[in-house]
Amino acid sequence: MRKKVSIVGSGNVGATAAHWIASKELADVVLIDIIEGVPQGKGLDLLEAMPIEKRDSYVTGTNDYADTANSDIVVITAGIPRKPGMSRDDLLNTNYKIMADVVGKVVKYSPNCILIVVSNPLDAMAQAAYKLSGFPRERVIGMAGVLDSARFRAFIADELKVSVENVTAFVLGGHGDTMVPLSRYSTVAGIPITELIAPDRLAQLVQRTRDGGAEIVKYLKTGSAYYAPSAASTEMVEAILKDKKKILPCAAYLEGEYGIKGLYVGVPVKLGAKGIEQIIQIKLTADEQAALQKSADAVKELVGVIGV
Ligand code: NAI
Ligand code: 2OP
Repeated sequence: MRKKVSIVGSGNVGATAAHWIASKELADVVLIDIIEGVPQGKGLDLLEAMPIEKRDSYVTGTNDYADTANSDIVVITAGIPRKPGMSRDDLLNTNYKIMADVVGKVVKYSPNCILIVVSNPLDAMAQAAYKLSGFPRERVIGMAGVLDSARFRAFIADELKVSVENVTAFVLGGHGDTMVPLSRYSTVAGIPITELIAPDRLAQLVQRTRDGGAEIVKYLKTGSAYYAPSAASTEMVEAILKDKKKILPCAAYLEGEYGIKGLYVGVPVKLGAKGIEQIIQIKLTADEQAALQKSADAVKELVGVIGV
């Protein structure tokens, strides 16, 4: 039987994720939104692209959660994006109300699904979805680390003029200004980047990664990034649907790992058919651990505001 992925929010990230998922033939896709007509129109448009792409993914759009029933994965992208001058945290209260509206309906129709949360501020929204759904932590995963690491990888590849395929990188922590790009665990064909890029230049690439979302917002003016975010969400969807046991940085509910308890923070996890199958604990230096703790404190503050 075909796999089914529903995407809540048919805006820039949601519709582009539907595009990647369908064009990779990972699953049938249902787009859902509160705006009438938009998910239907985008869904039909994508369906009509499938003969050209030679893919048999069935794509539909709807305003009715009954159509999302029995999804294997539900990706939540519903919410407002930031505009120039706004931080991700400025979206907190509005997007929490949207999350409260969406999660109950998703759970009613797909009680066994895996939730991938994309809406910002990411870690707080993942925590909200976890609490609102009542799902085990394995089945509520936040998307941010794959995107932030992809940005770091793109900058490293560009700097060294090497294939992006040679570059691995890890960005941990919350999806905000305090995120923690881990240079020590980032490599080019296995060679640590700390041996290839001078410290001052590396510090600039790290800062550009932290500012990666804002850099795009500044260009677009009316919204935020969506090609890389939707590709990142699709990599997570693929890892789960194909039970790949892929190690990716994702926001996960920590219960003591890395000395953090009761909070969503970005850490390396193993993604497979059951969702988060393992939280990978890597050794951090005292500075890295302090940076991760600072990032977790920033998430804790937001979570406190919405009381989840
Ligand atoms: P968008 O504005 O293009 O799309 C959002 C969609 O959500 C709209 O179509 C809107 O009608 C819909 N929506 C609003 N309330 C809803 C509800 N109650 N039920 C169903 N649908 C609802 O925004 P975009 O660019 O797609 O971004 C979506 C969210 O993802 C934003 O919060 C943004 O900040 C976040 N984001 C997070 C990233 C991450 O790394 N975690 C990366 C990129 C975006
Ligand atoms: C980004 O990093 C907006 O969080 C989104 O592009």
